[in-house]
Formats: sequence, structure tokens, C-alpha cells
Amino acid sequence: MFSKEIREKYLQFFKGKRHAIIPSSPLLPENDPTVLFTTAGMHPLVPYLLGETHAQGNRLANAQKCVRTGDIDEVGDNTHLTFFEMMGNWSLGDYFKKEAIEWSFEFLTGKKWLNIPIEKLAVSVFSGDDDAPKDDESAGLWKSLGIPEHKIAYLPKKNNWWGPAGQTGPCGPDTEMFYWVGKSDLPPQKSDPGNDEKNWVEIWNDVFMEYNKTEEGKYEPLIQKNVDTGMGLERVTAVLQDAKSVYETELFQPIIEKIEALAAIKYQENTTSYRIIADHLRAATFMAGDGVKPSNVDQGYVMRRLMRRAIRHGKNIEIEQDFTAIIAKKIIHMMSEIYPELNHEEEILKTFHDEEEQFRKTLNHGLKEVEKLLIGFQIALEKTGKKITEISGKQAFRLYDTYGFPLEMTLEEAQKNGLTVDEKGFKKAFAEHQDLSRMGAEQKFAGGLQDHSEATTRLHTATHLLHAALRKVLGDHVAQKGSNITAERLRFDFSHPDKMTQEQIKEVEQFVNDAIAADVKVECETSTVDEAKKKRAIGLFEGKYGEKVKVYTIPGWSKEICGGPHVEHTGELGHFRIKKEESSSAGIRRIKAILG
Ligand code: SER
Repeated sequence: MFSKEIREKYLQFFKGKRHAIIPSSPLLPENDPTVLFTTAGMHPLVPYLLGETHAQGNRLANAQKCVRTGDIDEVGDNTHLTFFEMMGNWSLGDYFKKEAIEWSFEFLTGKKWLNIPIEKLAVSVFSGDDDAPKDDESAGLWKSLGIPEHKIAYLPKKNNWWGPAGQTGPCGPDTEMFYWVGKSDLPPQKSDPGNDEKNWVEIWNDVFMEYNKTEEGKYEPLIQKNVDTGMGLERVTAVLQDAKSVYETELFQPIIEKIEALAAIKYQENTTSYRIIADHLRAATFMAGDGVKPSNVDQGYVMRRLMRRAIRHGKNIEIEQDFTAIIAKKIIHMMSEIYPELNHEEEILKTFHDEEEQFRKTLNHGLKEVEKLLIGFQIALEKTGKKITEISGKQAFRLYDTYGFPLEMTLEEAQKNGLTVDEKGFKKAFAEHQDLSRMGAEQKFAGGLQDHSEATTRLHTATHLLHAALRKVLGDHVAQKGSNITAERLRFDFSHPDKMTQEQIKEVEQFVNDAIAADVKVECETSTVDEAKKKRAIGLFEGKYGEKVKVYTIPGWSKEICGGPHVEHTGELGHFRIKKEESSSAGIRRIKAILG
């Protein structure tokens, strides 16, 4: 069965169970400063798992684009990817364990659906601890469906608990479904799905999100019992196709073939480099589709890192030309029917071109610096008679930090010249000079949840007022290009060609503070995208087609689509002050502001 059919079947199945099919959210979380990328289907739904009403109802399903870079070093093996699609269905306080498990079973085994023989399945359930009881209910449901006791593993929190994605937030016990990939057609009578990863591959996870983990580490009941499920499309495709790895499915084979046409070394001779190139460029293509450009901070930094790693692996398989745009083009053609945001091909390919060109320049520049270093070693030898055999950590770090020359390249050059590199010293120097923004980016990868504290909620509402104020003072060409909120400040990027004058900044502050002084009630209603546009609501409409959206109105001041949350009255905001107005990139300005 092809991936396209699996995706379609999944959505069709849950549509039949009265789920609204929602589009994939963008890879960049819209209002979540704690993570760089959407890491799971539940991620954009956190506010609704916490109790906000969702405009599309309380049964949702979709295929969500996800990026997880925690396992970047594992990419190249059979299953790890940085970009993947996760199919999921959600109950927001509606159905719970019984329906979730019965429907998972029906979709997996039903003739019309995946048609997996029941003998090939096994499951695991939560074994219970001080925070939550053993999940006998789920085990009972599986048994009632025909899964025998010996195919049910009872496992602790480490295995059978999902979330929160960050330090706090919705989470709960889960039940995981496994598929037998062992050598024999059917699993032996006694087999352990929880502790035999070689033979049992996890294909689906039903999470029963009924707890909220607090800052103190306590698990409190959520105001509603939710279901959050996730099935990795690439993995389930591989399993159903009996493929050795996700890269042997039609989701990757055409990419591998394209790479093979450009390389002197074949796939079978270096699967790792091929897989890294295919995975990383697929992730970078989707990032570009959502508007990310390679840079040295945040999402742009990750994209740059993925692209440059792919380019380096291109060298390993002896690709002698610029190739990233060629591969990206292939990926766009394969995926744009399902993800129309990939359709601005020209712009995406230009991004790839420019980055590859710049990286080559960087490499050449770095190589010249290495050469200078080697000449220095030679001179030292002539002067002192002592041969230097190692590039020091500091020298390697300088190449990296000042010239952007990757450590791997320094290692390679060193090896070619019979030298070693003090890698430990490099790491030490790196740690000493940690670039805060880059480190911030790394940390944000680790995951985290939308922060719904009072402080960020107030800043969310202030952002709407700021957006409205900018359009009033500067003109209707102002459009949101980015928003990032922490407990301390808001950051808002918007299109505007010039630096703002002091007067304009004052006027904008005045507008927001007047709206606060008026202490207006913030209203929220649900409407279709078209209605919202007709009512002249502003906000990020991209990626929202034919969907219902929430419109927040601050009567007389602002009307904007947004998932929330917001304060009830503008008077709660205090005093608004712009701390900084600066350029973000060409044609985009950035404001940082606080509430005092
Ligand atoms: N959030 C869960 C996961 O990522 C289920 O979707 O596995």
C-alpha cells in the first residue's frame, strides 16, 4: 500500500467517525516561543487540550508535518527522520479509551483499511505508579477485541506515558501498538512487544491525556479527558510495504534515485550519507515551504545546519556539483499536491541555491585559513625543529567560529595532512564561547509547551493591539511576519520598508495605551475564513483554507484571527512600552515591547 493511500484512508476513516479533518499546521508554531518547530500533531492543539474550545469541534484528525531534531545523529539508520508526517486523531473532552482503542483496532485490522492480520499485532499499556493507576481498562478493551494476554506488555512511565512536551502541560498514560517485523511470518507465542524492538516496531500511540503536569511536578486531573493519537506515516508505510527501512519506500526512493544520478558512489555503498542527504533536504524543503530562510538564529539556524550537513555528505558520495536545489525540486514535485505551501518552487529553489553557494564560499575561505595554519606549522618546524602534529582546540574553534568552517571539515583536512585535532579542546572552547542565540535554538529543540501564564496571555492581547496600532499609524501594508512571546516581552515582526520615527513609535504606544485605558471587553467568536476576511479581520490566514477560525475582537480597536488565549478586558494589560524598533531582514521591521 502506498503512503498516499494510507494517508487518505486514515483521514477517511476518522471522517467516518465524525472527526473534522483539519489542515496540517505550519512547521513554525504560531504563538509558542518555547519550541522552534511543531514536534507532534498535538502540539498546535495544546490550548484545546487544556480546555479552550476549538472552532472545528471536539473531534479532530489530520496529517501533521513535524520536525524533531533531537535524534539528528541517529538519522541514517532505518527509522529516524528529522522531518516526518504524523497522522493523528483527537478527542477534546469527547470520547475516551473505549472508542479510541476500538477505532485504532478497526483501522489497523479492518479489511477496508490497513487489513493487518491480528496475529501480527501486540500492544503495551501503562503498568501504574504513584501518579496514576495501572491501565486495566485499556488492557481489558484490547482483550475484548481479541488481543491475547501474552501480547499485552505492562510497562512503566518511561515507556507508556506521553507528555508533557515541555516541563508542564497535558499528558497521560498511553497504549502503544506494535507490528511484528521479526523473521518468522508470525510472532512466537511468547513474545514481548515492550522489550523486543528488533522484532516489534511501534506503529501507533493512543495517549489518554487526562493529567496536567504542574511546575511542582504534580499530576493534576485536567478539566477534560482527551485522546491524542499519533501514527508515523513513513514508519507505517515501511512496515506495510515490508521495506527494510523508511528510505526503501516510495516516500524516499525517488529522492535517493535523484541523488544517485548525481553521485559517483552508489546508494548501496554508502547508505548513511544518502539517507542523511535525503532526510535533511526533505526537512529543509518543508522549512523553506513555511518561509524559513537559512540564518544564524532559531529556525534559520537549524535549516542551515541541516543543509550544510547534507552538502558535506554530498562530498562523501562524490557529488561534484551544486545539488541541493535539484533534490529540493524533486521533493517539491513529490509532495506539493498534499502540501500546497511547497508550490512557490522558484523562491524555495533560490533559497537552496544561495545557501549552497554561500556555504561553498565559506568552505573555500575556511580551506585557505587551514592552509595558512599549515604554513604556520611548517615555519614553526623550520624555526624550532619541532613538528606540530595537532590542530589545537582553540584553532579548530576559531576556524568554526570566525569562518563558519565545520569541525568535520577541519578533521578531514587534518587527516589529509597527517595531523590530529584536539576535539576535546574544541568542545571546551565551544562551551566557553557559547553563542547564546544558537544555544537558545538548541534548547528550544528539546521541546516545550505553549506557555499560558498570565504574563504571556497579556502579551498576546497586547500583540493584537500593537498590530492594529501599526496598521493605523504606518498603513495597511503592515502585515505580521512573526511573533514570539516570552513571559517578559513580546516580539513582533512586520512588513514595513522604513525605520519608524520617534513620533510614530510614540503614536503606536499611545494607541495601545488608550485601548488599555478604555478597558474594553475582549470578544471571541468562531467563523469561517471567508466570513472572517469579509469582516476585515487581520492575522495569519496562510494555511487556513475552508476551515473555521476564532476571531478575537477588541471592539473599536482590533479584530484578528488567533487561537487565543487572551485576557478578558484590556484594562488587565497595565502599561505598554516599546523597548526597541529595529530591522529584522529586508523590508521587515521588528519591535520588542513590554507591559509594565
Ligand atoms: N503525542 C503522541 C506522540 O507524539 C501521540 O500523537 O507520540
